[in-house]
Amino acid sequence: MNNATEAYLQVKDIHVGYGRVAVLEGVSLEVPRGGFVAIVGSNGAGKSTLLRTLSGLLKPHSGEILLAGESMIGLEPAEIIGRGLLHVAEGRRLFRSQSVQDNLELGLWGTRLSKEETTRRFDRVHTLFPVLLERRKVNAGVLSGGQQQMLAVAQAMIRNPSLLMLDEPSLGLAPSVIDKVLDAVVQLRKEGTTILLVEQMVERALQIADTAYVVQNGRIIGHGLALELKDSDLIRRAYLGAGTIESRNIQKGISA
Ligand SMILES: Nc1ncnc2c1ncn2[C@@H]1O[C@H](COP(=O)(O)OP(=O)(O)O)[C@@H](O)[C@H]1O
Ligand SMILES: [Mg+2]
Repeated sequence: MNNATEAYLQVKDIHVGYGRVAVLEGVSLEVPRGGFVAIVGSNGAGKSTLLRTLSGLLKPHSGEILLAGESMIGLEPAEIIGRGLLHVAEGRRLFRSQSVQDNLELGLWGTRLSKEETTRRFDRVHTLFPVLLERRKVNAGVLSGGQQQMLAVAQAMIRNPSLLMLDEPSLGLAPSVIDKVLDAVVQLRKEGTTILLVEQMVERALQIADTAYVVQNGRIIGHGLALELKDSDLIRRAYLGAGTIESRNIQKGISA
């Protein structure tokens, strides 16, 4: 039996940087099994650095990362994927000259699923994103931005991750398309996937997540229930003074 409040991912006081440049300076957070946690914060706060660290692309100088109680420090990215943690990176990295179908198949690399299970996985992806079935023979590079983001999410979900991390899936997308992508994330969570969502669309992220952490300058400046954080001073503090781009993003989030 899964305990709904059990911490599935635990990050304890990690320090991470690029060379000598410190970026994350003592970040701690928890993601409960089956939960939906959002990380919000302005551009340059360290959100992507956090996800890159969790997926093993960057090594923390110190601190601990536990998945289901087991340390992930020192594991290679492929091993971390093998433990069920998947990262949809910023900027939709797809095999642009391969078809939609091929990109989905590449999402299954290294797995040995039966034909029936493979079919079931494809059906599930196509149910969530029917456009990927319609366009299965088209090269990923010619899809619209929104379709590419759906494909990036689909490529991860076809592996059935236990924890899916998404880095700014809404970036550059029209509001109607953002809805489709985020609705799919909400649906995945309903089906049991644990979600860690990084977003600059703060309002939207806080509407769909259970809890949220606010990052500023490489530190967590607050966390709590997403709906309670929505109108809090913390959010304003994390964004005000961070420049007009971030202010505009907040406005967009409110009006969308
Ligand atoms: N590859 C890199 N090399 C050096 N510094 C980087 C690199 N990537 C990001 N940074 C720096 O780390 C800080 C945090 O960046 P990032 O994690 O991308 O923030 P966010 O995703 O919140 O916008 C920024 O100051 C950024 O300039
Ligand atoms: Mg980022």
